[in-house]
Amino acid sequence: MSALDGKVALVTGSSRGIGAAIAHLFARHGARVAVHGRDLAALSAVRADIERAGGQAIQVAADVTRFAEIESMRHQIEGQLGPIDILVANAGGSFTKPGPLEETSEEGWQASVDGNLTATFLTIKSILPGMKQRKAGNIITMSSAAARRPHPQSPIPYAAAKAGIQMLTQHLATQVGPFGIRVNCIAPETILTERNQQRIPNSQKQALVDLHPVKRLGVPGDVARAARFLASDDADWVTGIVLDVAGGAVMV
Ligand SMILES: NC(=O)c1ccc[n+]([C@@H]2O[C@H](COP(=O)([O-])OP(=O)(O)OC[C@H]3O[C@@H](n4cnc5c(N)ncnc54)[C@H](OP(=O)(O)O)[C@@H]3O)[C@@H](O)[C@H]2O)c1
Repeated sequence: MSALDGKVALVTGSSRGIGAAIAHLFARHGARVAVHGRDLAALSAVRADIERAGGQAIQVAADVTRFAEIESMRHQIEGQLGPIDILVANAGGSFTKPGPLEETSEEGWQASVDGNLTATFLTIKSILPGMKQRKAGNIITMSSAAARRPHPQSPIPYAAAKAGIQMLTQHLATQVGPFGIRVNCIAPETILTERNQQRIPNSQKQALVDLHPVKRLGVPGDVARAARFLASDDADWVTGIVLDVAGGAVMV
């Protein structure tokens, strides 16, 4: 018997990066996984990888800033896999460059708030009613070290949106605990996804490593293992936490 045997899991933003690692690990632990994103080729590749490894997965596409698209994705998952037991609301990212606040455009602010905080709200709004009806469920949201401690180089709209996700998570945990639903948040420090491998120059990588008491940068698997713990019964009495997956670079 594996940690997530028979569970249906939706991992938003699993066409690449951290979400793809979570989808892979959940499938390896027995979950039937809905792999989600917008890039159909990337989705097919992740789904095929999971199936090659003996796991079960479907692929679904939706823009998580649009409620109607999320609702139709939920119907598709329920039709193909059954009710969603585990939601990892992972899709997001920073959509503005770091810089002085007065130089941040309103569009950039809105994009980061919509793409993280509002997307998380809308995704949970769609999936939660079924969980409450079934009196069971598990929700994991995704913050960032940027929302755990201030830094002059952090993009403020992203950090503020992620801080909002943390508070949303904790308020929701108090509302839905009586319905047998746990809600937790993960806050990763810099994770070497494919994108970050390309984006961060080697010289900067070393400087970032030096900020971590555990002398390396994170990899997607580090976040996936934390998500697996929170999603499993091993974390049965854990709700409303923000779990720093940060190699010691954040200690709150
Ligand atoms: N990597 C890090 O260092 C780091 C650190 C802290 C927190 N995080 C957080 O962890 C999460 C995953 O990050 P990542 O680095 O793995 O990201 P990534 O490699 O850029 O992948 C982002 C994923 O989210 C999906 N996505 C984004 N906006 C979407 C939208 N509006 N509708 C549907 N799908 C959307 C993308 O789908 P498509 O590409 O298919 O469109 C993709 O699957 C994010 O919430 C991020 O803020 C990352």
